[in-house]
Amino acid sequence: MTSLDNLVSLCKRRGFIFPGSDIYGGMAGTWDYGPLGVALKRKVKEAWWNYFVESRDDIFGVDAAILMNPTTWVASGHTKTFSDPLVECKECHGRFRADKLRPDFTANVSADDLKDVPCPTCKKIAWSEVRPFNMMFETHVGPVSDSSSVAYLRPETAQGIFTNYKNVVDTLYPDLPFGLAQQGKAFRNEISPRDFIFRDRECEQMEIEYFVRPENWEEEFEKLRKMCHDFLENVIGLPEGMIHEEEVPAEDRAHYSKRTVDVNFDFPIGTDELMGIAYRTDFDLKNIADHSGKNLDYRDKITGETFLPHVIEPSFGVERLLMAILSVAYAEEKDRTVLRLPESLAPYRFCVSPLLKNKPELVEKAKEVHKKLREKYINVTWDDSGNIGKRYKKQDEIGTPYCVVIDFETLENNTVTVRSRDDASQVRTKISDL
Ligand code: GAP
Repeated sequence: MTSLDNLVSLCKRRGFIFPGSDIYGGMAGTWDYGPLGVALKRKVKEAWWNYFVESRDDIFGVDAAILMNPTTWVASGHTKTFSDPLVECKECHGRFRADKLRPDFTANVSADDLKDVPCPTCKKIAWSEVRPFNMMFETHVGPVSDSSSVAYLRPETAQGIFTNYKNVVDTLYPDLPFGLAQQGKAFRNEISPRDFIFRDRECEQMEIEYFVRPENWEEEFEKLRKMCHDFLENVIGLPEGMIHEEEVPAEDRAHYSKRTVDVNFDFPIGTDELMGIAYRTDFDLKNIADHSGKNLDYRDKITGETFLPHVIEPSFGVERLLMAILSVAYAEEKDRTVLRLPESLAPYRFCVSPLLKNKPELVEKAKEVHKKLREKYINVTWDDSGNIGKRYKKQDEIGTPYCVVIDFETLENNTVTVRSRDDASQVRTKISDL
């Protein structure tokens, strides 16, 4: 496994991911995606959407506004409990997440636990009291900034799903069990954003709220857990041995969860959470019903029975998935760096080149091949920069599985060289067989 520094450097050098607002000195916890990063990210999101939504009859998509009525966050419990333990070093005034100061700490860490823990910055031991720090970003809606105009950037996409549950039930009449899925931005004022895109202040989530009959939650939890595993291993191509499930103990679970399984992954920074599956009971629907005064009972079409469904929630972070994919794909070999991305996720599938860019007959033929391939595949790129060795090096680093090279023999017999990224082997193929 590569180091995080190598990954960050490749992502910047090759136009995948840049530090946010880099030109003005950056903005901690934010990242910008360049052309190749956007291509990779879109493919990952599409793969997720195809697997969990398009290819199923029981999961439907929604796309809710990021700004929501502030009652949302009162009902969901975020206003009260969405906080991390904050501690300040009285010597250097550095602020830290207390539970991250030692690997064995849990969310309930107190000042007592910190008695022999030195400050990571100044190495002194002079801690303030530990206090909860709410991670929601506050803003104001409209021209007047007072307490009546406060709103929040959503800290999870889930609530945009729950608040549309009734709209969907009343318009689509889905049978239970059914799920609602959403992809979109979420914002968290993390005390210490860290480790490249692993912990950001602005991230993207892909979440499903799966509504079930209360008595079936365990069975449905199991099915979704297996689906998530199948997606990570067989669609995204993460090695099974690097994926580890962890039953989260009650004291570490979110306030709404009666069972959580974290799916951890062996990242370059160590083994840490990639995604989670939580049994949210009827916590959200019940609270939304209470705060909105609306009846959210589900009515069984056959028996007429009414009840509040319970919810299983698989929640993925796009950035953590990207980091897992990139770290598995990255390899340094004797004379090259290569990104062995699965073909279905690589930003480009083919790169077409004339062997020499100053031979018009080769360039013309190469353009013809490029056009032909483009009619068949969308992800075909063109490269005539530098010499052929440099082009291969660049395409290896951005993960292009095949380079198609047009040379003088092509002009004679309509064959091209196809050079494979993974083993650098070259084969001669007819253009018509590409
Ligand atoms: N709706 C449930 C929920 O938001 P979570 O465990 O807080 O649960 C779910 O977040 C997933 O979102 C995480 O497993 C992770 O992949 C991603 N995530 C959460 N906070 C993140 C952050 N600050 N930066 C990057 N990804 C984050």
